[in-house]
Amino acid sequence: MPKGTFGVTTPIYYINAAPHLGTAYTTVAADTIARYERMNGYDVSFVTGTDEHGQKIAETAEKNGMTPQAWCDSLAPAFTDAWKTLDIDYTNFVRTTEDRQTRAVQKFWQGLYDAGWLYKSAYEGWYCVHEETYYAESDLEKNEDGEFVCPDCKRPVRYESSGEENWFFKLSEFQDKLLAFYDEHPDFIRPVSRRNEIVSFVKGGLQDLSISRSSFDWGIPVPWDEGHVFYVWADALIAYLTGIGYGDPEREAEFDRRWPIQYHFVGKDITRFHCVIWPAMLMAAGMPITHTVFGHGFLLTKGEKMSKSKGNGLMPADLVRVFGVDAYRYYFMSDVQFGHDGSISMERMVQVYNADLANTWGNLVSRVTNMTTKYFEGRVPETPAGSEDNPLREIADTLYAEYDACMAEVDFTGAAAAVQKLASRVNLYVEESAPWTLAKDPARADELAAVIYNCLEAIRIIALYMAPFMPNTSAEVFRRLGLGEIADTTDIQEATAWGQLPASVAVEVGDPLFPRLDVDNLPEL
Ligand code: MSP
Repeated sequence: MPKGTFGVTTPIYYINAAPHLGTAYTTVAADTIARYERMNGYDVSFVTGTDEHGQKIAETAEKNGMTPQAWCDSLAPAFTDAWKTLDIDYTNFVRTTEDRQTRAVQKFWQGLYDAGWLYKSAYEGWYCVHEETYYAESDLEKNEDGEFVCPDCKRPVRYESSGEENWFFKLSEFQDKLLAFYDEHPDFIRPVSRRNEIVSFVKGGLQDLSISRSSFDWGIPVPWDEGHVFYVWADALIAYLTGIGYGDPEREAEFDRRWPIQYHFVGKDITRFHCVIWPAMLMAAGMPITHTVFGHGFLLTKGEKMSKSKGNGLMPADLVRVFGVDAYRYYFMSDVQFGHDGSISMERMVQVYNADLANTWGNLVSRVTNMTTKYFEGRVPETPAGSEDNPLREIADTLYAEYDACMAEVDFTGAAAAVQKLASRVNLYVEESAPWTLAKDPARADELAAVIYNCLEAIRIIALYMAPFMPNTSAEVFRRLGLGEIADTTDIQEATAWGQLPASVAVEVGDPLFPRLDVDNLPEL
């Protein structure tokens, strides 16, 4: 019986270019927590997808000489392929041009319209197409030519005053309700730095939000007013609901079971949409609100936000070719503290790879399986009495509490470090107990058996804790230890209790899991 449901989402990514390291970062993080909570026995939903409407996509398609739909269809596989390459095990992929999204968006906003939360009014104002965001003049910056530019992407903004009447959502009425909500739910916005930004933004007052446009047609039609389409954010946020069944009569029970979810993982640039507009929309609809919006930092290369348009956008597949998918995932999760900006570089990636994976985890598996072959004909030795008390077990016994507390804080770096601590301790234990010396003395056969057993058992436990980060390697380690499918684990706490490795099972040595890399001699990117 599952413990209950657990839900996480990534942003619904604009389909104007293939995924880069930044978008992959959020997606790997969501996958890591999703895998962990599955191993904890939760019935997990993990929604991701592509944001396919709006001016930006329409203009990108036009530049490429395609219809918006043809453009989206041509690019959607770049997302599903990238997520396959990175071993992303999502449960629902929503394209916002799917019929189910149209149904969900229309149902949601029709409800708000019927309840009196919308009104029609002339719209005029500054808009950044790249960010698909409205700005007050006071928020804008000026470039060298004296033009107003977007404070986020620094591109010129447009003044839109077609005299068109748009539909507005009465966001301004939610200021007090939102502030009270933030107060009552201190975990809603994390990390704390993001929370402070949002609280002071809302305290400054909220403007009503234009949620429809009639000057272009690449969007979901507003059902009660022909000629209007929904603003791209009024559409995309609903995908979080669509993914788990909202708007589908056949999935109503599933939706009720799954909503609200635990996490929206987003980049810090889009926390306002998720922490202000989104909860206000849900309040207006009388629906419960997601437990936590986690706004992570940016990946920086040479001090700049990494992005394709700046030309510093390495693609995930480039790095996977050099490091392998597991090392890729491990590097971003362990070395870039979730919630902070983090500088990434090839040099650092090689350094982490060699230290944590080649020299520690991979080396440990090789040397212990090799010794098992050498001293015990490749079979797990029986554990002699008295071998339960050992320094590895001491660490293993408290590891679940430590690791789980990190995961609850979405501190992937801390969780990875806790497992590494055990791996390093096993390497040290091998040095201290010197099995090669014990093996020379038949009187110490029991001691030798205990040392090898303890090492193999620690390896089994480490593989379990590494699995959310590096699913392939952990599955391979389980295979080498003659154990079943690691992916079937539904109670990681119980599975990591000491002493479950069965004796006399055949152990396989295999190739090095992480062959050492030389930073001066890397394959071409
Ligand atoms: N379509 C909207 C999201 C709608 S969600 C209902 C969107 N899409 S996006 O493709 O532009 O961005 C998706 C995410 O990628 C954002 O959270 C953004 O912060 C993140 N990243 C883009 N570049 C990044 C880095 N260099 N580093 C880390 N993440 C960054 O916004």
